[in-house]
Parts: sequence; structure tokens; C-alpha cells
Amino acid sequence: MTGVAALTLPGAAFEARLREVLRSRVAFIELIGDDLVAAGGKRTRPAVTLLAAQALGALPERAEWAHVTDLAVCVELLHSASLLHDDLIDDAETRRGQTAAFRRFGNVVSVMSGDFMLSRLLTLLAGLPGGPDLTRAFGEAASRICEGEVLQFQVAAYGEYSLEAYLEVIGGKTAALLALAASAPALLLDAPPAHREALATFGWEYGLAFQMRDDLLDLTADEATLGKPVGGDLREGKATLPVLELLAGPHAAEVRDVLERRASRPGDAARVRALAEQTGAAERTRAEIGRRARLAAAALEALPPSAAREALTDLAWRESRRRA
Ligand code: IPE
Ligand code: IPE
Ligand code: MG
Ligand code: MG
Repeated sequence: MTGVAALTLPGAAFEARLREVLRSRVAFIELIGDDLVAAGGKRTRPAVTLLAAQALGALPERAEWAHVTDLAVCVELLHSASLLHDDLIDDAETRRGQTAAFRRFGNVVSVMSGDFMLSRLLTLLAGLPGGPDLTRAFGEAASRICEGEVLQFQVAAYGEYSLEAYLEVIGGKTAALLALAASAPALLLDAPPAHREALATFGWEYGLAFQMRDDLLDLTADEATLGKPVGGDLREGKATLPVLELLAGPHAAEVRDVLERRASRPGDAARVRALAEQTGAAERTRAEIGRRARLAAAALEALPPSAAREALTDLAWRESRRRA
């Protein structure tokens, strides 16, 4: 390492704090907490928070770093709560390579543990510098997630598919949280508004790319590689970007039919997948993911150059190259 300080990412200290915050006097809630820590997940959002803080000049060796860690824990708690609730509403089989929590512990434990995580994060936020601004920002992101999830359901219920609605859905359920993960450190550290806005734009565009990639994988990947079920979007009548591309082309009637009957026939998902590859719909989705990743990286140019800024840029690039 010549002159480049090592960067701090979510590691043992982050995991220990997450586990500590999830302590409860009720054993069933503890089970979900243990599960969350043990099953892991990629920790993408807290990584973004820790890197953004470092890009704004926060130093892991200083005492204030404990606040940055707590902020990253809050971000992961909001994400985890949304996944506990999402798996129940999506009737998902697996999450993070394991049977989904609601299937193992039941709906009551799963929903209330999600609410418990949200409550814990409110308590943590109250103790941080910039608490009121941070609480407002978390409140806004959490309501965007709910709106995204419900709008997605509404669009599928009415079959009113459009690119605008799709962007609104993925903006709400995914990009709003990544924008928060990236920009909340600016509130904590009282950074200049231009830096906060740059980080929010980074998180937003990265979040859109991230969800578009997740959606493409749902159509083109296999469950063993992904650690969660595939083909669920078609079964739930959700038209994601590659499917919207197909709805704008010569196979529109056939694809709409599959969506309307929720991919109920064997071979439906494979057929849509083949169409997406043959017509270039999948490739156009990959190109859009690349475009969003470039917008994310470009936003970071408003920040002073640093190893942490480079690491954030790398995250966006890797998203654009992850093959599906
Ligand atoms: C899953 O997010 C939810 C989406 C927004 C697609 P991740 O893929 O980051 O999930 P974990 O945290 O690594 O399990
Ligand atoms: C992501 O939505 C969940 C949230 C962001 C709340 P999906 O339902 O598309 O994601 P997966 O495929 O279950 O991870
Ligand atoms: Mg889901
Ligand atoms: Mg969902």
C-alpha cells in the first residue's frame, strides 16, 4: 500500500454492533437477529455508507467513527426489515440461500421482527449528531420503499405497465434507500450540500442500476447461483425492464398474455427468457444498466478525489459488468 490508506468496509465491528442493536428480551426476535447476522448478505448498503463517510473525510481511527458505524447499521436495519416484509408479500421460498424467515418462524415473528428493526433504528438515529435531519431522511426513504412496493402491486393488479411506472417502482423500493445510504453521512458529518447532493445522485443512479440488474437476473439466472428464487416477477405479473422492452415489440401480445396469467404454464418463463435474449431486450437492459452506472460514477466527480471515492465508483462499474 503506497500512500493509499486502507478503507474500512463492513467487517467484524459492524457485525458486532448490528448484533448488539438487535438484542431483545424475546427469544424469537433474537432468532431473527442471529439469522440476519449469520446469513450475511452482501452488505452493499452499509458499505456505501462507510465509503461515503470516508469520501467526506471521516477517519475510522477517530472516536466519531462509532457514529458512522451506527449510521451504517441503521441503513442495514431498514434494508433487512424491508426484506423480511418483502419475502412475505412476495411469498418467496428463499432469501440469502436459506428458507425465507416467515416460512421458518411464521408471519407474526417475521413481520414484528421487521418492525422491531425499524424501531431500533429510530432509537439509534436519535443519538446521532444531525438526528432530526437524519430521522427525516430515513422517514422519507422508508415511505418511498412502501410506496414502491404498493405501486408495484397496483401496476400488476391493473396491468398498467409503463416505463414511467417501472422507474417510479424501482426508484421507491431500491434507489431511495441507496440514495439514503450514500447521502446520510453528509448529514451526520455536516458536509456541504453539493457533496450531499452528489452522493444522493450517485446512490439513486446506482440503485436503479442495481434493481435493473436484479430484475434481469430474475429472468435470466438460476436459483442456485442467486440464493433466491428466479422467475418470481413473471409469476407475480411484474413487468421489469427486459419485459417492458418485449411489450414494446412484435411479441407484445404473447408476453402480455404470460403476465396476465401469471406465467402459469410450464415453459412460460423459459419462453420469455428466450425472447428477451433473441430480440435484444436483455442486451438493451444491460446497456441501460451501464448508462445508469456511468451516471452514478459521474456524480461523484463533485467530490474531492480519494481512495473512498474510487471505491464507490468501482462499485457502480462492477454493477454494470455483473453478467446476467
Ligand atoms: C435485495 O438486495 C433486494 C433488492 C433491492 C434487489 P441485495 O441483493 O443487496 O440483498 P442482500 O442484502 O445482499 O441479501
Ligand atoms: C426488493 O424487491 C425488495 C425491496 C427493495 C423492499 P424484489 O422483491 O424485487 O427483490 P427480491 O428479488 O425479493 O430480492
Ligand atoms: Mg421479493
Ligand atoms: Mg418484492
